[in-house]
Amino acid sequence: MTDLNDAFALRSPEDCLRLYRDWSRDYDAGFAAGMDYRLPAHVAAAFMAAGGVGPVLDVGAGTGLLAEALRGMGFPGEIDGIDLTPEMLARAGEKGVYRALVEADVTRALPLEGGYRGVVSSGTFTHGHVGPEAFGPMLAVAAPGALFALSINAGVYAARGFDVALAGMEGITGLQLIEVEVYGPAAAARDAAHAADRALIALFRKV
Ligand SMILES: C[S@@+](CC[C@H](N)C(=O)[O-])C[C@H]1O[C@@H](n2cnc3c(N)ncnc32)[C@H](O)[C@@H]1O
Repeated sequence: MTDLNDAFALRSPEDCLRLYRDWSRDYDAGFAAGMDYRLPAHVAAAFMAAGGVGPVLDVGAGTGLLAEALRGMGFPGEIDGIDLTPEMLARAGEKGVYRALVEADVTRALPLEGGYRGVVSSGTFTHGHVGPEAFGPMLAVAAPGALFALSINAGVYAARGFDVALAGMEGITGLQLIEVEVYGPAAAARDAAHAADRALIALFRKV
């Protein structure tokens, strides 16, 4: 069974594609339900509370949990999703909550028209996954004034240089960091090593 130790040990895009291809079938019912995975809801709530509007880009959309959370909170705008892994996007597509889903690597120039007034992400900036090199491609497809709400695992925030990247980043304003728990109480029984993981939600606007 795929678990967080496998996911956090990814070393290449090929590793990522293989892991999430296998995990896609069981991700929602196994991992998300079993760990009481709350991060997508925290990001959605932070985006909504800060006045986020569409169209929104969900980066590393996976099986669509963040868009589902936004819809559950009454978000009416259009949501597009990108992800490296086609099998994860296929699960997201089954939920009928996205306008478009595109296979893309967020560390490279994105094959999108741009003009997004919101950019959200949960669970993608974490151990073995994506680093601050994604900020350039994300900012390039955001409209002036766009609101960003991005979760960054607390364990990689300084270790992967998100702190330095955000502090020195030109073209953003109003940076706030909101610390949240990634999982709920049920996680302790399933995976004690990760149950207490925390993340920072980086909220800021493109100038
Ligand atoms: C932990 S999952 C999070 C999925 C979803 N956002 C959630 O919170 O459940 C991480 C996702 O990031 C995607 N991913 C990893 N590297 C990526 C990259 N370079 N570009 C786009 N997506 C990537 C993976 O395919 C996977 O679906």
